[in-house]
Amino acid sequence: MTDKKINKPVDPAHLTELEQKHVPMIEAPELVLTGQPFIVKVTVPHVMEQSHYIEWIKLSMHGIKLGEVNYSPSDTSTTAEFTVTIPEEVVAVKVLEQCNIHGVNVCGDCGTKSVLTDLIAVASCNVHGLWESFKRIEVMSKIQSEGKPCKWE
Ligand SMILES: [Fe+2]
Repeated sequence: MTDKKINKPVDPAHLTELEQKHVPMIEAPELVLTGQPFIVKVTVPHVMEQSHYIEWIKLSMHGIKLGEVNYSPSDTSTTAEFTVTIPEEVVAVKVLEQCNIHGVNVCGDCGTKSVLTDLIAVASCNVHGLWESFKRIEVMSKIQSEGKPCKWE
């Protein structure tokens, strides 16, 4: 059965053998625009056997559920693809993670706003419990300008 504790890699740059098989790998653009759908691909390189398999993969962003894929032992792939659209309100929400020095990033040239936030993936192995990883992305408002990504300094 699953354990309530969520496992996270101790050293993401040097995963242990157990971590390599369970920690979700998240592929997503570094920079996305509000209101524009993008693909997030989450892969867990784990065996799928009757007695040992990945039960589900969930994706969220700061407590907001973005999607969930459930698996059975007969499934051969443990790659989940989520189509995600982040609403414009996100760049104005203060509770979202922002730069610890600059807060919401506002470009001095074009006034475009953006925030940094984390996509969080959790995978459940029926034997080894829950495993979490995250990928930090920048969400940029498309309202004021679409064309100028600005750098967090
Ligand atoms: Fe496992």
